[in-house]
Order: sequence, then C-alpha cells, then structure tokens
Amino acid sequence: MELYNEKLEAEFQSKIDSGQNIEAKDWMPEKYRKTHIRQISQHAHSEIIGMLPEGNWITRAPSLKRKITLLAKVQDEGGHGLYLYSAAETLGISRAELNEQLNSGRAKYSSIFNYPAVTWADMGAVGWLVDGAAIMNQVMLTRTSYGPYARAMVRICKEESFHQRQGYEIMLTLSKGTEVQKRMAQDALNRWWWPSLMMFGPRDEESVHTEQAMKWKIKLKSNDELRQQFVDQTVPQAELLGLTIPDPKLKWNAERGHYDFGDIDWEEFKRVVAGKGPCSYERLKTRNEAWDKGAWVREAAMAFAEKQQEKSLKEAS
Ligand SMILES: [Fe+2]
Ligand SMILES: [Fe+2]
Repeated sequence: MELYNEKLEAEFQSKIDSGQNIEAKDWMPEKYRKTHIRQISQHAHSEIIGMLPEGNWITRAPSLKRKITLLAKVQDEGGHGLYLYSAAETLGISRAELNEQLNSGRAKYSSIFNYPAVTWADMGAVGWLVDGAAIMNQVMLTRTSYGPYARAMVRICKEESFHQRQGYEIMLTLSKGTEVQKRMAQDALNRWWWPSLMMFGPRDEESVHTEQAMKWKIKLKSNDELRQQFVDQTVPQAELLGLTIPDPKLKWNAERGHYDFGDIDWEEFKRVVAGKGPCSYERLKTRNEAWDKGAWVREAAMAFAEKQQEKSLKEAS
C-alpha cells in the first residue's frame, strides 16, 4: 500500500512539475486536498465578508453613477464567493459545511475586512489598495496547479482589475477636489496602507505554509516578494494622486531596484488574525443576520427547483 501511494505521489508531483493541472477526479495526496479546501474556502469567505464594508456605503454613495458602480462591484464580490465555493466543493466538502464554518466563526477570512470603512474616501482606498493587493495574489493564482481554482481565478481577475480602477478613480477625483476632499483621501490612505501590506501575510521566514505551497505550485511567489511588488507598483500611483504614503522609511533603493519600506506592526497583524480586529464581531454578526434573513429565499428556491424537476420528470415519462 505504502509503495503504491509513493508511486501515485511521484506521478502527481511530476504532473505538477511539468506544468499540468490537477483536476477534481485525479488522485491527490490528502494534504493537497485539505490545503486546497482551506485556501479556496478562506478565499471564498473573504469575498463574502468583503461585501460588508462596502455594502455599508451603497446607500450613501455621493452620486447615481457612484452608486451603480459600487453596487456592481459588491455584486461581483458575491459572485466571486459563490464561484469559489463551487471550486471548493469539487474537493469533497459540502456548501452547507462551508457556510457553517464561516457563520460559526471557525473559518478564517482576510483580516483586512475587519477594519472599518468610515468615509466615502475609504471606497476609493479599498478599491485601489485592497483590490490592488488582492489582484497581485490572484494573478499568480491563475497559474496554480489545481485546475478548478486556476480557472476561477482567470475570470475573477478580470473583474478585480475593474475594482482596482474604480477605486483609483475615486481617489483621483477626491485628490483633485477641494482641500477637504483631498484631506479625506489622504486620511483613507493613512488608515488602509499598513493593513494592505499585511494582506500578503507573515514574513517569509515566519510563514509556515510557503515551502510546501511552492512545491505544489499553490503559490508561485513568496509573501515578501508579492509585498515588495505591491509597494513598487503603488508608490508611483500615490505620487500621481499627490498623496503621501504614511511611511517615513519609504525610499527608492537604486541598488536593489526596489523601494525600501518601514516595519509592519506584526502585533496588530496577529491581533486582527486572532479575531480581535476593530470590526471582527460586527462583521460576523452582520453575516449571520443576513444568513437568517435569507432563509426564506433559499427555501423558496429549493421548492421551485423541486417543482421544476417533478414537472420535467412527468414530461419525460
Ligand atoms: Fe473579489
Ligand atoms: Fe474586488
């Protein structure tokens, strides 16, 4: 038995090494399956919880155009969540279980959504920085080894780049506006900058998952590499806005060909990951309320589906 698994595992690894995808029905090590269920479901939960800080601003968007765009963005995130839940289900976990994990507070989701969105400028900063950081991770994931996940990412990335642009455009409008608007934009950048850098996860030397994840091509770049790429890309964008990144140590390093930047507050990172973020309690409460309020919709949809099935069975007989 042992020998048999070893052979399967070698075949599995060589498939990954040669750049082929692993598909739902292929043999895979149990750990690969579990790691993917964890990663894809955390990603799906992040999309779902990620709707909440921005959903709060739909009724308060400053114009019809902004309202429509924000509404579309929040709906996209909901779609990403559902799409990813389907990808997770191909690995043998049920949707009911996934929902239960999120609603009970057992599952993790991206900590960034446990920060409050306090002004309209936050809709700009979130789109620009949070969706911007997410894209960096997700573009890499379009080439990840698990087929259903990689394909989901291709589609999701197209929408994410629209989210990033709509956020940047809000920042651009505010930063070219009145003094008060410019201050609002700067304030949003000040609050979202560091949490955005934290989105890439712990430093490489402290990241427990990195090595195995790279071997299985779940990850193609390390946390620190992606973080550096994000800083390098975002600094010129902030300059174009005429805004200042809240980091006195930020400086171009010609020798490295990258920006040097200051230290992340890892204590804050750990606190928020542990569920003690400023909005952790509120987010989960809102999520559970939405779930309970939506029960009648789910029941009605199930009843309708049953009826349709009965009808088509009758017609077929
Ligand atoms: Fe998304
Ligand atoms: Fe997004």
